[in-house]
Amino acid sequence: MKLIIANWKIYLGAKESVALARRLSKIKSKNQLVVCPSFPVVSEVKKALGKNIKLGAQNVAQKPDGALTGEVSAGMLSSLGCQYVIVGHSERRHTLSETDAQIKEKLRVVVSSKMIPVLCVGETLSERKSGKTIEIVRKQLSVLRGLKFENLVIAYEPVWAIGTGLTPTLEQISEVHKTIKKVIGKLVSKTKVLYGGSVDKKNAQKILSLAEVDGALIGRASTDYSSLKKIIQ
Ligand code: PGA
Repeated sequence: MKLIIANWKIYLGAKESVALARRLSKIKSKNQLVVCPSFPVVSEVKKALGKNIKLGAQNVAQKPDGALTGEVSAGMLSSLGCQYVIVGHSERRHTLSETDAQIKEKLRVVVSSKMIPVLCVGETLSERKSGKTIEIVRKQLSVLRGLKFENLVIAYEPVWAIGTGLTPTLEQISEVHKTIKKVIGKLVSKTKVLYGGSVDKKNAQKILSLAEVDGALIGRASTDYSSLKKIIQ
């Protein structure tokens, strides 16, 4: 069984999100689907998803509570039924300047609230071109040191593959996933390593058939019912 996480970003409005969740709830799938809607519709989407699909969040406040205007805490997400939280997505790292120190705090609050973090790592195009992919991924994984996890998901998402229609070769994906598994193996027993970045209905099966790939984190294609149906079935 593969883990497929749908990251709806801010692509869908409230009505569209609920309607899509309702349709997805009727699909019989051999894989586990997790849907991460935008914050305002988390509760409504949760109701529409039914029992088989799990709920996740796209981000979380770095502090458990207090004065952080505009943020949403791990406790709130957990009480609304979220079981997974995406942490350190490249759009947050690169567009919103999120740092490794913030990411570490976020991992901490997610775990304290008994949810499973989905830590995103991945290199930029210039880092890949200069042969630094493995070094960058290892550095990004170093935020895990000193934290304790029962369950952890790592998503390898090359920055240059997100939303671009470009994907690494299967060999490149395998190589990075193997490294991640080697690094994490020593720290956490139950870890899944997902691939993310321009996964669609055409390339999903090949990527998911790789032994090192435990699932996928999907943005754009996960907002389209027939694409997602094809990917998860
Ligand atoms: P994409 O996004 O599938 O649209 O490339 C993936 C992600 O950002 O997680």
